Amino acid sequence: MDDHHYIELAVRLARRCAPRPLGDEPQGCVIVKEDGSRIVARGWNGDGKSAMTRAVSGNDVAHEGASSVLYFAREPYADEVDEIVAFSPARIVMGQESATERWGGKGIEELQKAGIEVDVGRGRDHSRKVLAAHDHVRRTGRPFVTLKLASSVDGRIATKSGESKWITGNQARRFVHLLRAEADAIMVGSNTAVADNPDLTCRLEGLEACSPLRIVVDSRIRTPLTHNVIATAKAAPTLFIVGPERDKDRERALEASGVSVLEVGYAKEPGFENLLDMEAALTALAGSGIADLFVEGGAALAATLMRRGLIDRVFWVQGPKIIGGDGKAALAPMGFEKMKDIVSLAHRRTYRFDDDIAVEYDVR
Ligand SMILES: NC(=O)c1ccc[n+]([C@@H]2O[C@H](COP(=O)([O-])OP(=O)(O)OC[C@H]3O[C@@H](n4cnc5c(N)ncnc54)[C@H](OP(=O)(O)O)[C@@H]3O)[C@@H](O)[C@H]2O)c1
Repeated sequence: MDDHHYIELAVRLARRCAPRPLGDEPQGCVIVKEDGSRIVARGWNGDGKSAMTRAVSGNDVAHEGASSVLYFAREPYADEVDEIVAFSPARIVMGQESATERWGGKGIEELQKAGIEVDVGRGRDHSRKVLAAHDHVRRTGRPFVTLKLASSVDGRIATKSGESKWITGNQARRFVHLLRAEADAIMVGSNTAVADNPDLTCRLEGLEACSPLRIVVDSRIRTPLTHNVIATAKAAPTLFIVGPERDKDRERALEASGVSVLEVGYAKEPGFENLLDMEAALTALAGSGIADLFVEGGAALAATLMRRGLIDRVFWVQGPKIIGGDGKAALAPMGFEKMKDIVSLAHRRTYRFDDDIAVEYDVR
């Protein structure tokens, strides 16, 4: 076993879903005997614990420090350094530097000041996966946005009356719940919130606590106050993105229900001035620590984000159903006239869930 192997293991641990404060990057930690003879302990961050704390707590390992190597998926934060120094490892290996402005490089500096040998960048290819969203925020100032659409074979997401339950089967819907758990926030447009009355939580057994922040883009606060996202807001955090012309009484009622409110202006693009400025919304969300955003539709919100180049990845889940041309198209009109302007995708992976398929694409 070499350093790459243990970094890969640390990255896998980092990908465990455990609730973390917004803005915190995932972290995994593996403590290995210096001679490689055995793994002493493993940890990941979340539930109020750093990866190191989780690795050492409950395991009788304090005496192992001097004869062990610590592997981290990414650079530990400067405020996590004390417990690492106290453990006094022979060496530390980390996948890559922290991708956040706040911490990048500071943890490494502190560890080196304490006289510990630090090796950065081993297995960078593995750690990149786990820090992709935070890297994206650092480069663009916006979250990494994944769009999921569940459509019939003919690309419809609802019947003409707006019914959409269910186009895909149970296994595919469970997969979507796993994607929800991996995100920092889930977003839907107001028509979806009104028509479907969704919960927008992760309901996979054991991962309920990993339900991310729920976000509804609802400029005039049209969602009924009795709908699930509002009625349960004291238990599951919820944010409404609203416009300057919303009704102030409804806003007060929302806040009394435990919903947070973010105001953004209207889009400046000709023909779309009655819709909210999603660039501004995404920039504000990144500023509040949301790195990984999962958009679940509907067609209008998906089209706006796609047209503006704000979507980075697509999961297109397709059920073996035909709805017909009077059903709701997966994406609202995008106004492209020339083939050179349309959106191109790069295939990443195809998944099969019973009779459904899900295709993962990167947006080029
Ligand atoms: N199968 C699936 O995967 C799936 C997923 C989701 C939804 N659906 C179905 O899709 C239907 C709803 O989709 P939809 O296209 O009608 O509506 P939508 O995308 O859910 O919501 C659109 C509304 O969001 C608000 N909004 C504010 N700013 C916006 C912006 N910049 N861009 C886009 N929207 C903005 C606008 O309402 P305000 O003016 O009130 O702010 C707009 O009318 C429902 O039938 C639902 O069942 C299916």
